[in-house]
Amino acid sequence: MWWKTGVVYQIYPRSFMDSNGDGIGDIPGIISRLDYLQWLGIDAIWFSPLFPSPMADFGYDVMDYTDIHHEYGSLADFDKLLIEAHSRNIKIILDLVPNHTSIEHPWFQESRSSRDNPKRDWYIWKDPKPDGSPPNNWLAYFGGPAWTFDETTGQYYMHNFDPGQPELNWRNPEVKQAMFDVIRFWLRRGVDGFRIDVIDRILKDTQFRDNPPNPDWKPGDPLVGSLLRVYSEAAPGTHDYMRQFRRVFDEFPGTVAIGEVQYGLTTQQLAAFYGDDDELHLPFNFGLLGLPWDAAAIRAFVDDYDAGLPAFGQPNYVLGNHDSPRIASKYGMAQVGVAAVLLLTLRGTPTIYYGEELGMHNVTIPADQILDPQGKNQAGFNRDECRTPMQWDTTPNAGFTCPDVVPWLPVASDYEQINVAVQQQNPASLLNLYRRLLAYRKRTPALNAGRYYSLDAPEGCFVYLRQFNDQQRLVVLNFTTEAHTLSLDEWESGLIAISTDYHREGQTIDLKNWVVRANEALVIEV
Ligand code: GLC
Repeated sequence: MWWKTGVVYQIYPRSFMDSNGDGIGDIPGIISRLDYLQWLGIDAIWFSPLFPSPMADFGYDVMDYTDIHHEYGSLADFDKLLIEAHSRNIKIILDLVPNHTSIEHPWFQESRSSRDNPKRDWYIWKDPKPDGSPPNNWLAYFGGPAWTFDETTGQYYMHNFDPGQPELNWRNPEVKQAMFDVIRFWLRRGVDGFRIDVIDRILKDTQFRDNPPNPDWKPGDPLVGSLLRVYSEAAPGTHDYMRQFRRVFDEFPGTVAIGEVQYGLTTQQLAAFYGDDDELHLPFNFGLLGLPWDAAAIRAFVDDYDAGLPAFGQPNYVLGNHDSPRIASKYGMAQVGVAAVLLLTLRGTPTIYYGEELGMHNVTIPADQILDPQGKNQAGFNRDECRTPMQWDTTPNAGFTCPDVVPWLPVASDYEQINVAVQQQNPASLLNLYRRLLAYRKRTPALNAGRYYSLDAPEGCFVYLRQFNDQQRLVVLNFTTEAHTLSLDEWESGLIAISTDYHREGQTIDLKNWVVRANEALVIEV
């Protein structure tokens, strides 16, 4: 199955390529860069939402699930994108946001119009407490209460995110049918799958009880963490809904259901989202994002995760996305190559966030220019920083948009060095490392389908074997700034197939006694 052996590349549509000079990325822009993605060697693109939206949360607030946002193009543009991508053997994965709509969705407009409107019950409405305050203590991720009072009908509506993102009532069968029909609409059109936003959080407590306090919360942490969200999301019955989602995908064989589930889940909790091979194909594994960049910690996590999934459960790994800091900013530029080798050689489906193949870093945005609804309310958690325009070349605005246009978010100041055009010319660049890794992974079953065994290694190094029949590949990752001597006694010699140190590729080494360089990562044929 393509999503088991393949690699997913995430595009944040506003930031990839602007074709019409409005400073905002669009679908014709993306089409013009498909040759680049084919050259890079990815297998599928996941697009953050492309649907019409007032952009309270930059597309995660949808006002029409079956059309294309006007700044991005039209349905005709999208159909062209599908054809152009498929002709390059690239699959298309869309982003479904079923937990909430935009406040401007016609369903919500109807729902809020009167208490007896047929769509009233499509959303979560509650009376104020006698003193006029919200129905319970639930808090929104982006700050403030999870309830907003609506004058028209004198009730509160619920929203776990921005007030512009009212929660749908998934206990209403009509909501379910409408959303399942949205999935069918796109899969019928030829789309290959969905990434489904906060899918594990669609069900709320039937009694709307107060959330209990979180004893681990410290002042200064985001306020939403001061309560344990045991009643405001992920209520019992969630897995039954996952099975219902899956049955819709099963109507379209070969399509994939990727689910955004909570960060910080245990392997056992993640494993549960595969069900009996009847829930999600790929519940996103965000485990690496929460760990220190430390060989021992990462080995322990991967060992546990790899062994803990059911036999049919395809593992997957994420090192960055539109909600998380860039790899270069988090772990340092010296380690971006190690991160690339880790992500693309573990057992499972990797997702690469656009620009990580260049080593793009977070761009600091002055407080008064923050656009992200989360960043506006929570100092230090501004997601604009990891969503800046893709860096294509050395021209002003990095080739993302016309030179004289102000892009929707600022371009990183080092774009003249960190860009596609410059790195394509340099065989030792990070971009070319990604490209070699992707090509090598594609033709090497040990990497794209083989088993995983970790091996003991010097402190600061993570070493594992990937194996498929008699094909074996050793992966050696040095998380430190010092060289280490390694002795892998099981083997005599090995051939360096890939190294972050490009000049070493093709060399044969004595595996009983050799040196892994500082910040080096390698794939070795044994
Ligand atoms: C998910 C998205 C995030 C969005 C939120 C609300 O976590 O990844 O970007 O803000 O859901 O839709």
